[in-house]
Amino acid sequence: MKHNPVDPTSSWTRRSFIKKTAVATGGLVVAPPLLSACSSLISDAVALLPEGVDGHPLRLPPELTPTDLRLRVAPGTWDLGRGTLSPHLLVEGHLPSPCLRIRKGEPFRLTMENRIDDPLILHWHGLTPPDDMDGHPRFAVAPGEDYAYDFPIVERAGTYWYHSHAHHLTGRHTYQGIGGLLIVEDPDEVRGLPLPPAERELPLILQDRRLGPDGIPVYEPVGPSMMQGFMGPEAVVNGTLDAVAMVEPAVYRARILNGSNARIFRLGRSDGRPLQLIANDGGFLDQPYTLPWVDLAPAERVEVLLDFRGLSEGDSLILQSLEFSFPGGMMGGGMGGGMMGGGMADAYQQGRPLDLLRFHIQGTTTNPGTLLDALPPLPEQPDPAHALRERRFDFSSRMMMHTINGKSYDMDAVETEVPFGETEIWTFVNDSNYPHPVHLHATHFRVVERRGGRGEVFPWEYGLKDTVLVLPGEQVRVAVRFTAHRGLYLLHCHNLEHEDHGMMQNILVV
Ligand code: C2O
Ligand code: CU
Ligand code: CU
Repeated sequence: MKHNPVDPTSSWTRRSFIKKTAVATGGLVVAPPLLSACSSLISDAVALLPEGVDGHPLRLPPELTPTDLRLRVAPGTWDLGRGTLSPHLLVEGHLPSPCLRIRKGEPFRLTMENRIDDPLILHWHGLTPPDDMDGHPRFAVAPGEDYAYDFPIVERAGTYWYHSHAHHLTGRHTYQGIGGLLIVEDPDEVRGLPLPPAERELPLILQDRRLGPDGIPVYEPVGPSMMQGFMGPEAVVNGTLDAVAMVEPAVYRARILNGSNARIFRLGRSDGRPLQLIANDGGFLDQPYTLPWVDLAPAERVEVLLDFRGLSEGDSLILQSLEFSFPGGMMGGGMGGGMMGGGMADAYQQGRPLDLLRFHIQGTTTNPGTLLDALPPLPEQPDPAHALRERRFDFSSRMMMHTINGKSYDMDAVETEVPFGETEIWTFVNDSNYPHPVHLHATHFRVVERRGGRGEVFPWEYGLKDTVLVLPGEQVRVAVRFTAHRGLYLLHCHNLEHEDHGMMQNILVV
């Protein structure tokens, strides 16, 4: 259950080390997944890239089973790939945080050990546990203390994640490294589906960073960064700058999380080939969608099939965030650009193009896999035709204040009481100049309609969602129903600077 770190004193020669790694990962030739924070190991790993390939091998998170697991969160140092050791908050000594993988129906039993200098509580984003297991900030524990979680996994198979939910500290904690994938598997659901095998599964946490002159990430959410959220010009994928993955000419399944504090990605391939979208926040969609790009706001997840068939050894392509614009954003001439001033403005804006991860094709395969024609049926979703009432939530950012319905978060107040089991229509209204990825705990909702702005619901918003992007000028209507538990949960913006500075409210399910 616990991982065995790669032994740096191992007598493997580099050649056999490369071979073993390649075998262990079935052709995804990347850095050994269990790198320790020891810098010499990391530079060893860099040597694994073939000659002539620049960049740093994509790290894979260690995988742990969250059943009777202790998860230690502590300060440490980490090299993002360019050789600079910088201070981070590490979960079990790793960046990215370990990937927790569990089967539907199994007990999730985990004790979080808070060994950082702040209060801390972990939230299982997308799961629907009882409220004292959900990571509400009122349960944050002091440095040196532990918090025990114990609940059954009832979720559909899918890509979920975990992160800090400490009051006013979520942005800093996430930026400094606390945040990992939480994968729920359900063999019954995928039986007979020709999905890529486990060794062609790529867990990807996409983030952006601002590096100081010394190469150390900085987090100073002040001035304009307080309003638009904290963004940086550098892409970090699984805690790796300039990340490179060696892949076979085959179909891969990428499980992608936007783990940024504020940056939205428009995911596309540099070679113009489409993505096959198969899943989002709440698991598989009703069918696969072939799309030129997919937008992914902070905290949203998608699963896409990346088709590298037909490419040959030496070919390469980049998973990019493509340029985009929206009213009030980078290209729209809104206040964002003006406030930054100077030549730095672009790098800190939404919509700026960014190279995320470079793929190099290596080797050949007799088993390249296939794209999908169909997906398992969706479970029943809340039906807007059965809604018993409507509610409206206004997300506003003005004068350095982020509010919902005019109010800043009060941990002890209950603004909204929702009857258990009843379907409602909620409208999220963005009357500000900044995007708001709106997130609801304790259930999944169905996006019914988008008015204003982009004016439509996109395929990556079909199915079951827990986070939906509401751009300036948009009103997004969702059908909501709480069927898991009664208790005190949260609705908030997942722009972490917005969340930390008030754009959150308690939701009591009664
Ligand atoms: Cu991912 Cu309340 O958060
Ligand atoms: Cu959540
Ligand atoms: Cu927001």
